Amino acid sequence: MDVDSSALFAPIVINGHTVKNRLSVAPMTRITATRDGKATETMTRYYARFARGGFGAVTTEGIYTDQAFSQGYLHQPGMADEAQANAWKPVVDGIKAHSAFAIAQIMHAGAISQGNRFRDSTVGPSAIQPKGEQMSVYHGRGRYAVPAVMTETEIADAISGFAQSAGRAIDLAGFDAIEIHGANGYLLDQFLSGNTNTRADRWGGATANRVQLILETFKAVRAKVGDKVPVGVRISQGKVNDHHHKWADAERDAEIIFGSLADAGADFIHVTEFEAWKPAFASQGPSLMHLAKRNAPKAAILANGGLHNVAQAVAALDDGADIVTIGRGALANPDFPRRLSEHRVLRDFDPTILGPIANVKETELAM
Ligand SMILES: Cc1cc2nc3c(=O)[nH]c(=O)nc-3n(C[C@H](O)[C@H](O)[C@H](O)COP(=O)(O)O)c2cc1C
Repeated sequence: MDVDSSALFAPIVINGHTVKNRLSVAPMTRITATRDGKATETMTRYYARFARGGFGAVTTEGIYTDQAFSQGYLHQPGMADEAQANAWKPVVDGIKAHSAFAIAQIMHAGAISQGNRFRDSTVGPSAIQPKGEQMSVYHGRGRYAVPAVMTETEIADAISGFAQSAGRAIDLAGFDAIEIHGANGYLLDQFLSGNTNTRADRWGGATANRVQLILETFKAVRAKVGDKVPVGVRISQGKVNDHHHKWADAERDAEIIFGSLADAGADFIHVTEFEAWKPAFASQGPSLMHLAKRNAPKAAILANGGLHNVAQAVAALDDGADIVTIGRGALANPDFPRRLSEHRVLRDFDPTILGPIANVKETELAM
């Protein structure tokens, strides 16, 4: 029997900007930029399909922010200079042409960078070799390097890279909103996590200290783009190189992290879990999206993880989510919202799309 999905098609206002429905494309790295980090025509076509297919918002893949240590992958797009920002303009125009809301995700890879044309080494909060192995679909091989400990100057530069990139994304590329990537094991999350951040300075120690880099980055971005541009942060427990990581202080950590983002004035918080509806910490208890809403009631909560399951997507709206974001389901169905509203079958995700390399394939563009 069809699930009543009408709640997914109600508009929502985020910081004065109307998003036409509750379905957004999740950020997905596809390494389809030029070698020097400029968005390509293939990317314009790739992103436009999601907007044409009815998504209310489209979040880009993680975009690197500076010409120092932020780049994570070869052929990843950047926002680190004007030429890179201008290259995004046709992509953004294509998204907006179909009245979808264009959100730029900006990220610094930190210790899990596996391809950076500006540097041969990596930096992170502490000199701890990251868990896991580099991802071969993004041209990686073997273990991650041990990062150098970031100095105060390098931290200040990284924050400034986020702020400058956010400014370019809005002013030059024409994006509607900024998502700061604070999740999935990248630099900001490396600072947040006790097992990757053992610093003894103001950036380390208690959770309230470890969240400071996210907050300082948020404040710098906000100062750059102003109050009227929606700015949000993506937060997760799991990491690309450590899927099962959990916050040591569970609900207390959630209170500190989401509460401090609320106090800082985040317009939205994007939470991701493998299955968004599951209890965040144990076999029972609230989900992460529920905790985000509880601790940041004024922020729009974007929830992600397995929400191509329509019944779970609808249920998520009753469990704290305001928007659901869809990753693999959108790769399989770039027109997911349209299919849903027309009661057409949703295709299953075929992981072979992402191999041998995760770049955008011509076969996808024909979908
Ligand atoms: C190919 C691919 C690339 C991804 N790249 C990013 C990224 O750049 N930034 C990010 O925050 N998450 C990234 N993710 C994670 C997705 O945003 C999402 O959290 C994940 O796919 C789970 O959601 P789903 O169940 O809807 O697929 C990526 C996922 C996939 C499949």
